[in-house]
Amino acid sequence: MLETEIKADEIKEETSLLPSYRRDMREYTEKQAGRFIKMNTVKDWSLLSWKDIGKPYEVTSFAKEKHDWEREHEKELPVHTSWEMFNRSFHQWFVKDVPAEMDRSKKEFLKNAAMMKPRAAKSALGELVRLSLWNYVHRIQDGIWDPRGKRGLFANLDLEKPRILFLGAAEGYEAMQLSAMYPGGEAVLVDYDPFCRDARFEEFPESYPFLGQNKQTGGRKAFYKNDFQIDYVVEDIRNLPYGKEFDIVLSVGLLEHFPDKLKPEVVDWHRSFVKPSGYIIMTTPRAQLRSKLYYEIMADVMNHTYRELMTVEQMGLYMYENGLEILQHGIIKVHNGIVARAR
Ligand SMILES: C[S@@+](CC[C@H](N)C(=O)[O-])C[C@H]1O[C@@H](n2cnc3c(N)ncnc32)[C@H](O)[C@@H]1O
Repeated sequence: MLETEIKADEIKEETSLLPSYRRDMREYTEKQAGRFIKMNTVKDWSLLSWKDIGKPYEVTSFAKEKHDWEREHEKELPVHTSWEMFNRSFHQWFVKDVPAEMDRSKKEFLKNAAMMKPRAAKSALGELVRLSLWNYVHRIQDGIWDPRGKRGLFANLDLEKPRILFLGAAEGYEAMQLSAMYPGGEAVLVDYDPFCRDARFEEFPESYPFLGQNKQTGGRKAFYKNDFQIDYVVEDIRNLPYGKEFDIVLSVGLLEHFPDKLKPEVVDWHRSFVKPSGYIIMTTPRAQLRSKLYYEIMADVMNHTYRELMTVEQMGLYMYENGLEILQHGIIKVHNGIVARAR
């Protein structure tokens, strides 16, 4: 195993900004904890009703690529194809050299403005706005990977060398973070878009550190992608051959892509593969104003398929109503997160 030992004082403050992402090995103190995760605001889920909390916000602006496909084929974009488009589009942003791209698009805008080409200038300006937003949300704030929020959400679970199943895994980030915190087990990543295994996961940076636990010393340790035991399965979740055999069944950004009539089935996907003593962990994007703006501005990059933004109360009620016991719930930078068990 290629594991790298880190001294505690090195871990404490170390963070650096790379061209495509933030490398962040900082822990937070008890006092700062509330800045990274707000936990357990609902005391009794049986007292919540849809009348009180309302239904999720539906994102209705879609990518140009989706509109173009539908115009050309004169039918609605099939869901599987919409994921293929989404994954290719989203991946391009994770591998960008963001400062260099911002520089290039600034020059492009100024050149077109000086040459009085309003359409080209407008298009370059749009790209510059998207790049600046991505720079802030992903690279500076680290809102998408959010390692400190995710570690807060995944903390204190009763697990020994867990088998983890990640449904709709994309690049697999959260299964790797869990594997660092609860080392020695294995993770099965499932996505029906082969691009996720062959590009999103394959090209995930090998030098990205996941802060976790040193089982020998009880201290902290950085783990890297190649340290983990990962099996990437390209398959529709509906066709998986497993029984109730996983210690953790996880999904990140899956539930909100299904309208209400399909949500019971999605919750059930998790329940069918988790051991009776195991954990179901789900996250979904938050219904906050800044997220609504983000999905508006990034529509061409992100909005190829049905998408809702919801509160943690709405997310929890879907899970509670569909037979889960909620153990922990919280909000991190851009997502809600819930740890549950099958009831
Ligand atoms: C929104 S993404 C997950 C978000 C992810 N964290 C990201 O950064 O893109 C959901 C993933 O689930 C996959 N997916 C959706 N429905 C699926 C199904 N029925 N079986 C397998 N994978 C599915 C999609 O291909 C997509 O990669």
